[in-house]
Amino acid sequence: MSKPYLTGHYTPQVDETTAYDLRVEGALPPELSGRLLRNGHNPKPGVTPTHWFKGSGMVHGIRLRAGRAEWYRNRWVHTPALDGAPYLTEHGPDLTASTAGTHIIEHAGRLLALCESNLPFELTADLETVGAYDFDGKLTEVMTAHPKQDPVTGELHFFSSSPFPPFLTYHVASTKGELLLSEQVPGATASLKHDFAITQGHVVFIEGTVTFDPTETSGIPYAWKDGQPARIGVMPRGRGGAAAIRWYDIEPGSMLHAANAYEDVEGRIVLEGPAVDRRGFQTSWNWWVGAPGRGSEPNSRSFERQWVIDPRTGTVSERNTDDLVVEFPTINEDLLGREHRYQYAVCFPDDRGMGNYGVVKYDRRTGGRQVRLVGDGRLPSEAVYVPAQGAGSEDEGYLLTVVSDLHADASQVLVLDASDLGAVPVATIHLPRRVTAGIHGSWVPDQD
Ligand SMILES: [Fe+2]
Repeated sequence: MSKPYLTGHYTPQVDETTAYDLRVEGALPPELSGRLLRNGHNPKPGVTPTHWFKGSGMVHGIRLRAGRAEWYRNRWVHTPALDGAPYLTEHGPDLTASTAGTHIIEHAGRLLALCESNLPFELTADLETVGAYDFDGKLTEVMTAHPKQDPVTGELHFFSSSPFPPFLTYHVASTKGELLLSEQVPGATASLKHDFAITQGHVVFIEGTVTFDPTETSGIPYAWKDGQPARIGVMPRGRGGAAAIRWYDIEPGSMLHAANAYEDVEGRIVLEGPAVDRRGFQTSWNWWVGAPGRGSEPNSRSFERQWVIDPRTGTVSERNTDDLVVEFPTINEDLLGREHRYQYAVCFPDDRGMGNYGVVKYDRRTGGRQVRLVGDGRLPSEAVYVPAQGAGSEDEGYLLTVVSDLHADASQVLVLDASDLGAVPVATIHLPRRVTAGIHGSWVPDQD
């Protein structure tokens, strides 16, 4: 049976290519000098993974400079897994056998392709694979695909999550890439932890109702289990913080991605991002494993949600803040850990087929939202925010999204004016081939 993640927008590319001097419509702002990178799963020809997340990693890159789109290139992340090396060996998991297909970030001058079940893989500026990266031998566990770089200190906060004790370890790396701190977090469980958040003073972990289940054989051994308590863990940042973690019960659910978290004026922790209930999780999971009868549409049921955690009362209030199906939340990362006004996301059709693909902007101050649909047969990827030079406001900048276009069998990068999603795109970069719909990416400016 053909899997949905091998068809349509998700049809894998079969080779690695490079193209130069891409056609640009509109005016590409000269201040956009750097590389837009997008990672995702791209199974090799002839390989049908049992779960979308197990497909080999492929990074697509677009190099912008001086108002020109200089090149596009796509490269598999050349890990042992690409050549068929098993993840599980007789000695346990092989942390260097990664698919490294979830995210790509830059930190301390290194490009790191990430996947939460393995070590990062370092790539060159031209996307060639260097090899597994373990912070000079100091990282002996897996690394989340969603590390957070503090916009003020430049430090990289991240975690290791495992289905087995100690379950959760918190790490901090310096601006130079030195691993400064690794602390086991008490009270954690085998709950799936894909993302987390930091505030100026705290680290926020999310444990949902989806947890390790060795009896789940459809692809990856995780499943929704009603007995698994859903909780948010809040601990002070910095050395010794893990011992002071406090866990707060929340309603059953699962959250893949945190948009942001911050402390409000009353000292409460506010956490936001898309979340699913049981039906929503099953909708996504059935697509991820290509369950019989699920259909090929990657529709979803995740809704923007807010949790407000009050350490004085020990209580959490939570609610859905919108009725649009969204995923891939992004913000102006200069506000990471601080109160943000604007959040962006990709919107999807729901599980009844209602709604369309597009990019949405939330204004948290007014409660309003602006949706830009991308058109029939087109699917946008995570919209990466890039501030304008000398920006005077939070949304004075650009949203960069790679759109898969089935009609043209090609892709375009839309450069949208983040202050007005309804405006004509600032620029459209035409890519020579379709970028397989995928997961996360980053803008890596040249000064980095
Ligand atoms: Fe993710």
